Amino acid sequence: MLATVDLSQILEPIKPELERLEQRLLEEVSAESRTLATIVRDMFMAGGKRLRPAISFLCYHALSPAVTGVASLRGTQFRSHPPAANDDKLYLIAEISELIHTASLVHDDIIDNALVRRSMPTLNSKWNNAITVVSGDFMFARAAVNLGKLDINEIVCIYARVLENLCAGEIEQIEHKYDTELNWDYYYYSKTYKKTASLIEASAEAVAVLLEVDAQTRAAIKTYGYELGMAFQIVDDILDYSASSEQLGKAAGSDLKDGQVTLPILISIRDSSKQAELIQDIAELAGGKDRLAAILEQVNDTNAINKSRIIAAEYITRAKQALSTISDSKYKQSLLDLADFVISRSH
Ligand code: FPP
Ligand code: MG
Repeated sequence: MLATVDLSQILEPIKPELERLEQRLLEEVSAESRTLATIVRDMFMAGGKRLRPAISFLCYHALSPAVTGVASLRGTQFRSHPPAANDDKLYLIAEISELIHTASLVHDDIIDNALVRRSMPTLNSKWNNAITVVSGDFMFARAAVNLGKLDINEIVCIYARVLENLCAGEIEQIEHKYDTELNWDYYYYSKTYKKTASLIEASAEAVAVLLEVDAQTRAAIKTYGYELGMAFQIVDDILDYSASSEQLGKAAGSDLKDGQVTLPILISIRDSSKQAELIQDIAELAGGKDRLAAILEQVNDTNAINKSRIIAAEYITRAKQALSTISDSKYKQSLLDLADFVISRSH
């Protein structure tokens, strides 16, 4: 069992950046419509770990030594390394990731008919669907405005691809509800990349593009984001089985009820000695029968949660290995510790 890692300690080196980000996110609420302003403020005030911005800030500092001595970086003069607190473009990237993430959750909660997230009532539980959908769209639009301000075509392409992935991943998930004949690679891992890892990967890679690091360093930081993002979602899927609703701040145990076949179920189907029964139980669950207890027994019997954890841990190991060519610093250490946090988190 891994020791719990304290997230606030890990993020201590970038505390000023995270505080300034909060301020800037609140400024995002300067919408002309009072309803929109209220909704966007509620969304950001509802909290969240700000994991994606934190990754951008940490990557920025961790990669800065790689560009030390660069006289001109995207039109800005730096004597030693770029001062993060003054780099507007870094904050634009952090905001883009958080806006896209938040907006996609707003849409996802409508699709899933979820009433609670981050221990707060969801937007769709307070407003009608028309208002909720368009508020999500507004946040995507704000992300697009920020991309325009950023004015770096490669980063526009990175985030455009993320939006494409989010939509494709969501559709794949809807199409494969209660599907017990899934090809793991073509469904579970591909959907996990599209819905989760793609945005985390982008939050790391965009900073490498901003800093104009060499191709090898860019690939390394992108790999870190990819591997961490995959592990993050697998752990999320595990927690849906092993954590309480209080710990999660949203309804626990809802994946299977919603027909989502995630890694613990895939492993149970693969390893169960009563495979035919399990598949039958899932089919009956799809038909509206309460077969949850029987299915969970198989998850337990096949040790699927521990086996899923082992797979998540392999992603974490690869995330850490990806940083081996990056020079040591407290920021790199935080990226390594963040990887440990992802696998040890309880919510
Ligand atoms: C959470 O899924 C949802 C996502 C990670 C992204 C969902 C993406 C969309 C709804 C498409 C976005 C739309 C545009 C226009 C880009 P989950 O239900 O598995 O997780 P949860 O338990 O946190 O709700
Ligand atoms: Mg959901």
